[in-house]
Amino acid sequence: PKAKGWATQHVHYHQGFWFNQSPLQGIITLQKSFEARPTDVFLVTLPKSGTTWFKALLFTIMNRNRYDFHDHPLLTANPHECVPFLEMYAMENPNQRPDLSLLSTHMPYTILPKSILASGSRIVYVYRDPKDTFVSLWHFMSKLRPKELPPLVLEDAVEQFCSGKSSYGPFWDHVLGYWKASIEWPDRVMFVKFADMKNDPILHAKRLAEFISYPFSSEEENEGVIHKVIELCSFENLSNLEVNKSGSYKASSASKIESKTFFRQGKTGDWKNILTTEMAEQIDGIIEQKLKDLV
Ligand code: A3P
Repeated sequence: PKAKGWATQHVHYHQGFWFNQSPLQGIITLQKSFEARPTDVFLVTLPKSGTTWFKALLFTIMNRNRYDFHDHPLLTANPHECVPFLEMYAMENPNQRPDLSLLSTHMPYTILPKSILASGSRIVYVYRDPKDTFVSLWHFMSKLRPKELPPLVLEDAVEQFCSGKSSYGPFWDHVLGYWKASIEWPDRVMFVKFADMKNDPILHAKRLAEFISYPFSSEEENEGVIHKVIELCSFENLSNLEVNKSGSYKASSASKIESKTFFRQGKTGDWKNILTTEMAEQIDGIIEQKLKDLV
């Protein structure tokens, strides 16, 4: 079945979730043939829940002995250019996998290629407050929407989000899949909250590094390496780099997105400035019902 999408495309139902057409093609290819390696690290997110930030953090942590902080790839490349999206990559390269150990995806847990679960690789899942994720997505989709189409109506978008028909949604089923997996396989799946990273980046960057088997040594801690990682990847730093202010990111051969679209505010709680009390209650109602053990 098809449902009306937010931007231009329709979303398609596949194995319990809603997808835009092009990633879905990539996902089907990955489900058939993707071969994970035990050393792979997969960053999994719902769109607009902190992908750009966590790509930067994981890339910096994993490559900290390779690159100097003053001459770092993230100073001249958007984080999305450093860490590919598996489904977009697979859509354009159906017969090969990226030769990198850090990869990202929005795929729900239940439809991950079997080899990811069988390989012993690690999964880092980022959870962001649903109202902040929704508002960020609404801004993003509004920006990408072609001018010839009427603007997106916020009320309609809330309605659609709450019905589960958002890209890679339902939001709650996506979250629950990884939440349960993180309880069942805590050394394979890490569930990390955007808000926790924002509140205590030192603690959570340390945990992230330990989880993916790139722990900071006490020598590195004394030298302030964790601070340097956090500083490099901070919203203030990344959003002010020329590459992210004026550059663009080629999501696929058919789509190019201005890099600055990935950096809006980088805060928690912005939903309060956008959603009416009724809209917030509508989202809270469905989330409390669906994610009662978690929120
Ligand atoms: P806002 O629209 O609320 O500002 P994604 O990377 O998954 O597309 O998510 C984008 C959201 O993450 C946007 O949220 C963006 O501003 C925020 N973001 C991007 N880089 C960030 C960073 N380095 N630190 C914190 N938030 C960041």
